[in-house]
Amino acid sequence: MATGEQSPLDVERVREDFPILDREVGDGVPLVYFDNAATTQTPNEVIDTFGDYYRGYNANVHRGIHQLSQEASIAYEEAHDRLAEFVGASGEREEMIFTKNTTEAANLVAYAWGLNELGEGDEIVLTEMEHHSTLVTWQQMAKRTGAEVKYIRVDPEDGSLDMEHAKELIGPDTAMVSVVHVSNVLGTVNPLSELADMAHEHDALIFGDGAQAVPNRPVDVEDLDVDFYAFSGHKMAGPTGVGGLYGKKAILEEMEPFMYGGEMIRRVTYEDSSWNDLPWKYEAGTPLIAEGIAFAVAADYLDDLGLKNIRAHEERVTAEAYDRLSRIDGLEIYGPREDEERAGLVSFNLDGVHAHDLSSILNDHGVAIRAGDHCTQPLHQKMDIAASVRASFYLYNTVEELDALVEGIESAKDIFA
Ligand SMILES: Cc1ncc(COP(=O)(O)O)c(C=O)c1O
Repeated sequence: MATGEQSPLDVERVREDFPILDREVGDGVPLVYFDNAATTQTPNEVIDTFGDYYRGYNANVHRGIHQLSQEASIAYEEAHDRLAEFVGASGEREEMIFTKNTTEAANLVAYAWGLNELGEGDEIVLTEMEHHSTLVTWQQMAKRTGAEVKYIRVDPEDGSLDMEHAKELIGPDTAMVSVVHVSNVLGTVNPLSELADMAHEHDALIFGDGAQAVPNRPVDVEDLDVDFYAFSGHKMAGPTGVGGLYGKKAILEEMEPFMYGGEMIRRVTYEDSSWNDLPWKYEAGTPLIAEGIAFAVAADYLDDLGLKNIRAHEERVTAEAYDRLSRIDGLEIYGPREDEERAGLVSFNLDGVHAHDLSSILNDHGVAIRAGDHCTQPLHQKMDIAASVRASFYLYNTVEELDALVEGIESAKDIFA
């Protein structure tokens, strides 16, 4: 979407759902929250779910036949169906495991599948723009199993994935392809379904990191044809402490459990144990009950606004941000160029000003952004920068809020001139 176009969202109304946006920071300046790629804010409906649960039907799930336990179990189980539907998984709850976050989802697959299936001669293909949550996980799993990690090149000029290189790397020795759907640094949207086809051609599996995709665009795991797909509640207007892992049913049935203990078993003797049905086989111990229920409320909230509308709104704010930031002398923007597809974030550096100093000055202007390596140290090394500043937008941000960002950057320039 180009700058100047009308947003499909009634943003002023939407903002009323997020009480935190009314607060002031520092010396009484209004908060401008542009750190959404790290964690999004939470609407009243999601916050209220916790009060309703703890005041009304707090009980352990799957264990009791008393009414509270039944109410909690139904809500918790239906939350799985809801999240499965949200990402297009027709297998409903059997294909949707609740984890702590995207990181735990990646570790679940690495331990449950990787530890058993990988060995000498196997290759794990990642991209150079992976988040540490998958990069470190697969790197360490390779060390344990004797497998080798290979990285699909990223073009440093426009942040795109080198698909010719992907074709070279994904081959008969590939066992797993793990790809970030939307880069949390560059804003690049990767061609996941094309990569899934390449992986499947060689009987490899593909893991999609959807942490930055599910919050802001319609995702259909069956259209993408990914084998696993992970995302986090706290990046999509939901609570912290809960994430989703989609897995194809046939694969989840075959895989070993990740953690052992209560809830995940069917029958236990002193000698041996057998496993519960999906998805409970992968949810050992008392799960994140209130968080899981609130996760589904967040999905409802986003669906009510419409994922297409959310994406269009974000594109509008991002296009405006790109336009205004690119007119600032000495400011370098990373990732896709102006006319290329970009998710709702802009990472940059200001010549002569360290990212942390810029972040601190922006904080004085009420602007919350992120400075650092954004859990992508190898990508920053490749781009030959120590750190970057990232402004990331969500459904409640306005183009007017960009004034504070630009003013803050201009004042940093004055201070460091
Ligand atoms: C692309 C990407 N993948 C994975 C993660 C990890 O998410 P979490 O910290 O919720 O596990 C993040 C978080 O910033 C991310 O941006």
